[in-house]
Amino acid sequence: MDSLPSEAEQHERIRTTVFQSPDEAVRLVAASLARLIRRRQDESRTAVLGLATGSTPVKLYRELIRLHRDERLSFRNVVTFNLDEYYGLPPHHPESYRHFMEVQLFSHIDVPLDNVHVPDGLIPRSEVFAYCQEYERKMLAAGGIDVQILGIGRTGHIGFNEPGSGIDSRTRMVALDRLTRRDAARDFRGEANVPAYAITMGVGTILRAKELVLLAWGESKAAILREAIEGPQTDTVPASFLQRHASCRCYVDEAAASELTRFRFPWKVGPVEWTPELIRKAVVSLASDLKKPVLRLRDEDYAENGLAALLVETGSAYSLNIRIFNELQHTITGWPGGKPNADDSNRPVPANPAQKRVLVFGPEPLDAELGMAGTLHRLRRHQHEVTFAYLTSGNLGVPDNEARMAISLLNELSVDRPADTQGKDRLDQLSDELEKKAPFDEDSPMLRQFKGLIRKAEARASCQVLGLDLEKVLFQDLPFYEKGRYRQFKSTDEDVTAIRELCRRIRPDQIYITGSGAEPGSVSGISYRLVTSALEECGAEPWMKACQVWLYASSERPWSPHEINMAVPLSPAELAVKLDCLFHHRSQRSQTPFLGTQSGESWQQAENNNRATAQRYDRLGLAEYEAIESFRRQKESEARTGL
Ligand code: GLP
Repeated sequence: MDSLPSEAEQHERIRTTVFQSPDEAVRLVAASLARLIRRRQDESRTAVLGLATGSTPVKLYRELIRLHRDERLSFRNVVTFNLDEYYGLPPHHPESYRHFMEVQLFSHIDVPLDNVHVPDGLIPRSEVFAYCQEYERKMLAAGGIDVQILGIGRTGHIGFNEPGSGIDSRTRMVALDRLTRRDAARDFRGEANVPAYAITMGVGTILRAKELVLLAWGESKAAILREAIEGPQTDTVPASFLQRHASCRCYVDEAAASELTRFRFPWKVGPVEWTPELIRKAVVSLASDLKKPVLRLRDEDYAENGLAALLVETGSAYSLNIRIFNELQHTITGWPGGKPNADDSNRPVPANPAQKRVLVFGPEPLDAELGMAGTLHRLRRHQHEVTFAYLTSGNLGVPDNEARMAISLLNELSVDRPADTQGKDRLDQLSDELEKKAPFDEDSPMLRQFKGLIRKAEARASCQVLGLDLEKVLFQDLPFYEKGRYRQFKSTDEDVTAIRELCRRIRPDQIYITGSGAEPGSVSGISYRLVTSALEECGAEPWMKACQVWLYASSERPWSPHEINMAVPLSPAELAVKLDCLFHHRSQRSQTPFLGTQSGESWQQAENNNRATAQRYDRLGLAEYEAIESFRRQKESEARTGL
């Protein structure tokens, strides 16, 4: 029996359970699917599962495969219907959902092929309508879907039901939203290659399933998830229609849940324990809501906005305001490596040692530059010994066209060097491959390596802009990435060992990394976990006792000042250096030019975020800067070092 929603969950219109990690969540969901399947086996009946694609359900499928392998769960009585398929892609296409399902699940279990249904992306246009009706009929004939697994897209879509999809919509052909296509651009090596249409079950089709399970991981889903769970039911957020279903459960990790009222404004939904962090959060959000600087908040402002309890605990607005103002003030520093010979009792970074060994991890080229190019530049100018380690080559993100250009350049060069036949052979092989290759064929190891070289060259050029010593710019080429592809990465001890050995060699005083809130299967999510494991393995070593680990922000979401432990201001000139550095990653510029300021290019996003953070500090009554890069202390490192 379901327990009743708690006081804290009162705003949630879909029952939501929050887990520390997706692993725990998928174990629970897989176990309940297994129970259903086994129960039906005992009754000689089928179990009908609605399946989804995308990164989100990958871990669930891995757990189902484990149950099949280790706990003899058979899928012989299972019938499946997939939510959707790209229109125009043949089933064997590496990005087709049919192919995805084969690789991620079907080929590892004993589900009979005849029981598996994925919409056909090659149905002639004139037959699509009849085909979709037939898809629905088959679902009904199978007895209807028992449990439908769902992910959520950043537009709020379920399946491919983009904003505008009505509650009664049925299986049909739809045009994909710009944001959805941009999110898929990585898989297709460029937005231009992403199909424009898809066939998807409708919202109405989905709501007919007996039970719905919505999964979401990572902070990039947090905002849209809040709208789906707490917002009004509206076709601008099709996932909000899930609120209508009597048996819909949502399973999320902490990062995806972070925008729900119970985490964002816990004091609005029940009694809270006023920790220093929560107090800072409450004061900052009160000041932001009222558009007032912190020091001008009055007792009445607190009392009239649900924060009377805070005043009871902390005294008057006057002393509370000063305390929080000072805390915010102390996060700001132009000395990210510590200020030598200065009193550091209120600074985020200790003064000693004056010259620090700094180790910066970039999951893929460009990630660290987006988050902290200005700070890297500063650290270097302040004479710290900066080692910048790119964990992966990022070769999957290089469009073929960039490779063609580089080949043409090298060919020109080799005209003058006829002796280099080996090099010429390699270039010819690469040209050949590119010429023969269908747009979505996988790259050979040689082409991947070549594309990796392009990204390394860009990375070095961008590091030079920041004044980094190229001898200390390292490319780790971690095996999980080199051997895998998006949504199919599998890390091993080899990856952890490489990071651990680097840390041991450098013995850093400071480490910078990102990805703590990223989708766990993404390159930065995996990289973050690998670095964390490597550091755990180094735990007992003396240098670790004083090593501060800082998290830098991704360009997805600017952090609010209450979440920031170190704010590094950038002058207009420093911001220009940062943009110059970012521009050198030219293969990462959008391949589909989009006019206007909202192009969503990652560096534009980073610039906007850095400016927005500065504005938020300014509005809270702190100094007005051009831009700010923000950092958070890693909790584990804080507990270990007390810094
Ligand atoms: C695609 C799929 C959806 C999926 C969404 C989110 O658009 N059609 O079914 O939920 O992407 O994908 P991801 O899980 O990779 O974030």
